[in-house]
Amino acid sequence: MPIALPVLEQVVREAGSIALTHFKNLKQLEITKKSPRDLVTEADVAVEAFLKDALTKAYPQYGFWGEESGQSDDQSSRWIVDPIDGTHSFTKGQYFWSISVALEIEGEIIAGAVYVPTVDDYYSAAKGQGAWLNGQPITVSAETRLADSMIATGFACLRSYLTDNNLERFCRIAQKTTGQRRFGSAAMDICMVADGQVDAFWEQELNLYDVAAGALIAQEAGATVTDFKGNPGIFPKQILVTNGKLLGQILPLM
Ligand code: IPD
Ligand code: CA
Ligand code: CA
Repeated sequence: MPIALPVLEQVVREAGSIALTHFKNLKQLEITKKSPRDLVTEADVAVEAFLKDALTKAYPQYGFWGEESGQSDDQSSRWIVDPIDGTHSFTKGQYFWSISVALEIEGEIIAGAVYVPTVDDYYSAAKGQGAWLNGQPITVSAETRLADSMIATGFACLRSYLTDNNLERFCRIAQKTTGQRRFGSAAMDICMVADGQVDAFWEQELNLYDVAAGALIAQEAGATVTDFKGNPGIFPKQILVTNGKLLGQILPLM
């Protein structure tokens, strides 16, 4: 059974119901732009405010870093939170968005949860304790051939108007695979590598709150988590997550 941080699942699921309340009322949803291609809604803010209050009350020894409200004073050990990962998808009424919560203690991610409220999928992991989906153990796919694989990626780089972006890399790799997906929530993308729905994922220009929880879940499910050169670790600006069997075939194409 998954190690339960006693309050974490309950709090994250409650955050999911808050998000769903807004999701079922999109016509009234207040949407603003943080930058020309980066949206934030009242749902993002409400979910993060709830998570910050609930987590800091239940675990006062940890600080908090949320995408929308920033960092609390103590950052030595902290919750790292993306209240809605996939906000653009959320505003369009699509299924692919998630709530991502990670616990980092002295620089190491030791627990993570990624919750997909639209399908009630709760991914979780604790360091060294395996990865779980709705209480069942999960593991990466058995796919050994890139030519037969399904890969996922994202284009955060376009949001930052980068010229060194993902478009050429995507075309290079896409032509060597069978399936390609851009779901719209990096946290979910990474969890879908963890449970074998996708064989590999990569993206540039993310932030730690996009990937921290998902990366631990993927590692505990047997995935490799590296940068684009294959260096092991969580590198939000250049993250590559694979089922392990495909790493050697993908790296030369990155
Ligand atoms: C976004 C999603 C998306 C990724 C973007 C992220 P947000 O998160 O993770 O998949 O491509 O770069 O910013 O902004 O909706 O929290
Ligand atoms: Ca995000
Ligand atoms: Ca977000």
